[in-house]
Amino acid sequence: MLNAILSSLSAENSWRDKIHCYESVTSTNDVLKQMARQGAPHGTVLVADSQSAGRGRLGRAFVSPANMGVYMSVLLRPACGPTQLMHLTCAAACAACSAIESVLGFRPGVKWANDLVYQKKKLAGILTELGFHPDGSVAYCIIGIGVNCNQQLADFPPQIRQIAGSLTMVTGSPINRGVVAAGMIDSFAAMNEVLLKEKGKIMTEYRKDCITIGQQISLVRGERIRHGKALDVDGDGALIVEYPDGSVEAVNSGEVSVRGLYNYI
Ligand code: BTN
Repeated sequence: MLNAILSSLSAENSWRDKIHCYESVTSTNDVLKQMARQGAPHGTVLVADSQSAGRGRLGRAFVSPANMGVYMSVLLRPACGPTQLMHLTCAAACAACSAIESVLGFRPGVKWANDLVYQKKKLAGILTELGFHPDGSVAYCIIGIGVNCNQQLADFPPQIRQIAGSLTMVTGSPINRGVVAAGMIDSFAAMNEVLLKEKGKIMTEYRKDCITIGQQISLVRGERIRHGKALDVDGDGALIVEYPDGSVEAVNSGEVSVRGLYNYI
């Protein structure tokens, strides 16, 4: 995998010497977090051919069969506090959409907050995690992304077949995972350059990509389900929801799961 990535990576990508590829890991986020705690530098990238304990948001599993997808995590060490990174997941989602667009020529949308979707199917998910210094500043961020590349419908577990899709199901051709991974690494490196300087611009782009805005949605908080309309996404990435009684709430992505009223999207 490493050779395939390096041969497609932009010549200027300064993360080139910090890309580690493994056949199988528990979770690229977990392993990279461990490496971060042991001092791995900014721009370290970990790519695996499979994960035995891939994780998604809200404690869900991310199914990561061998050689079917791109499972990777990127380590950033921005010098800032956590409040300056509220838009990190949105920035990563846009960067991932740009990577797919530049590699395959179509741009997925984003189902708030962190799912890449196309033709109502989830193609990829993003899981961002932060670690802190004792003074509360950010020690590291991990951006993990799992992209379904070469799965056909029957390759997904029955319980997610209705909502899951893959790049090959969109294009009709086999996907070179190394090229996709390289595109992601280039795009995340470009995102890193503007992350703290161009927050407004990033969020404007996110609102264009976000297909949830304008939809009737269900918000699931544990056992509780509420219906409402997604009006917008604010500058920190919170979903602005209007309820039938006219009240409006800014919903944080860490607390709820959002569904379209009649299906996953
Ligand atoms: C989601 O669907 O809620 C997010 C899924 C994120 C999956 C990726 S795969 C690489 C990285 N390692 C993990 O354990 N999770 C992320």
